[in-house]
Amino acid sequence: MVVSSAPGKVYLFGEHAVVYGEPAVPCAIERRARVTAEARDDGRIRVHAEDLSLNGFTVEYSDETDAPDVDASESLVEAGISYIDAAVEQAREAAGEPDAGFDITVESEIPLGAGLGSSAAVTAAGIDAGTRELGVELTAEEVAERAYQAELEVQDGEASRADTFCSATGGAVRVEGDDCRSIEAPDLPFVIGFDGGAGDTGKLVAGVRALREEYDFAADTVGNIGDIVRSGEEALAEGNVEELGKLMNFNHGLLEALGVSSRSLDQMVWAARDAGALGAKLTGAGGGGCIVALDPTDATETALGYTPGCEDAFRAELDTDGVRVEEA
Ligand code: MEV
Repeated sequence: MVVSSAPGKVYLFGEHAVVYGEPAVPCAIERRARVTAEARDDGRIRVHAEDLSLNGFTVEYSDETDAPDVDASESLVEAGISYIDAAVEQAREAAGEPDAGFDITVESEIPLGAGLGSSAAVTAAGIDAGTRELGVELTAEEVAERAYQAELEVQDGEASRADTFCSATGGAVRVEGDDCRSIEAPDLPFVIGFDGGAGDTGKLVAGVRALREEYDFAADTVGNIGDIVRSGEEALAEGNVEELGKLMNFNHGLLEALGVSSRSLDQMVWAARDAGALGAKLTGAGGGGCIVALDPTDATETALGYTPGCEDAFRAELDTDGVRVEEA
């Protein structure tokens, strides 16, 4: 039996614009998905999900055509197992054991679909645990590549490398197209606010694409986000956290202009700023889900606790560890 874990992430800068070739800076956070893999001889896969921020469920199946018999809605089950399925395929392929069966348990501290990279963390941890259980050790870069391939498959060819690379390697990352690299970052005092919801990434990305095609100034807005990211990289290199906060505020304003914020996200952003956060913005696709603020004090977390529309607020420091084995 092997247990591996991988971190979720926030976007310090650059979501949506990254889809059009601008750079983005995701950062891993100390909120992890843990996947336990135990080989079984009969080639079947049993998945038990402890808390994908949904009610737990257990599914047993042998392949995609074998309809799982579970007491949960189909979409919930599909959301939970499609990434695990793709991770198992990658682990089988990496180990050259196409018929390997597994008992898989997923425990996640990362809310699903909320902009914190839950699927990438589950996928990276699943690939690491599955391959190790079959006696093969992959590097973090190899896990990142396989996790990206798994996400591409599940998301019908629409995935950026940002989430999976960040989850596999940890720390702060610069992504531009296929080029992903780790970058230096000072201590980043992240505070997360979660509205309990989730946006529809596909719809939100399509909305920005349509705006960009219709209006030149929307295309300029996307380009301006790229400029913010480039300035943000300088601030990161200088360790200038105040400047990072200002640039986050700017980035949120442009995302809002592109129509991907929401009332609850804006309320949380403003609550954080009013509490004295250095900066605050939505993270991920938007539409609902999470904001990220920078605040070394307790003020933002406390204020978010009293903010209508905020279901959960917590501190999540930058996690310099990527995918790692917890038990073998
Ligand atoms: C979603 O987490 C981030 C987006 O930029 C989409 C993507 O990069 O695939 C909105």
